[in-house]
Amino acid sequence: MKIRQATKKDKTDAMTIAKSLKEWFNKDGLKSMALDFKMNHLIIAVEEEKVLGFLSYTTYSGKMLLMWMGVKRGTQRKGVGKELVDWLVKESKRLKLYSIEVETLPEEDVYEPYERTRKFYYKNGFERVLYKKARVKGWDDQIVLERKIQ
Ligand SMILES: CC(C)(COP(=O)(O)OP(=O)(O)OC[C@H]1O[C@@H](n2cnc3c(N)ncnc32)[C@H](O)[C@@H]1OP(=O)(O)O)[C@@H](O)C(=O)NCCC(=O)NCCS
Repeated sequence: MKIRQATKKDKTDAMTIAKSLKEWFNKDGLKSMALDFKMNHLIIAVEEEKVLGFLSYTTYSGKMLLMWMGVKRGTQRKGVGKELVDWLVKESKRLKLYSIEVETLPEEDVYEPYERTRKFYYKNGFERVLYKKARVKGWDDQIVLERKIQ
């Protein structure tokens, strides 16, 4: 398996994976994701030219922001997500950033699929640092998880 920056075609393949992960990404989420893919960086995990997973990111104010990630359903729990995060950790070190931040649903929201998501982030060294109340009608409260780099 190889991690590399996404080509235009890879972006389409990554969106196809995201669309199939319906428990995590709804219509509004997919719309934001498509724009974020266009405006920011996207890396993908590939094997024999097949996209297995993706991660989109950007830097801001000395930190790395992990925006979206996903691994193909039948390929989950095989280390692809960890490889993508490990790549981002290396890149953050190279850029001398303070941390990686990611937002996700809080434990207070008892929606099972995101329990798995949080387990993944906690297992990969992220810690809960902030609770953000939704400020827009229809949006969910979020927590900020942080993985320190330096
Ligand atoms: C979360 C996600 C990206 C993780 O990728 P992955 O390739 O499945 O994860 P890995 O195999 O690298 O897992 C690394 C460790 O995280 C933990 N973990 C991952 N998935 C887990 C799950 N479903 N339940 C519990 N722990 C989990 C485990 O400790 C795992 O190590 P182990 O399998 O040796 O026990 C992937 O499962 C996914 O696409 N989920 C749906 C979309 C999503 O939640 N995206 C993130 C929000 S934007």
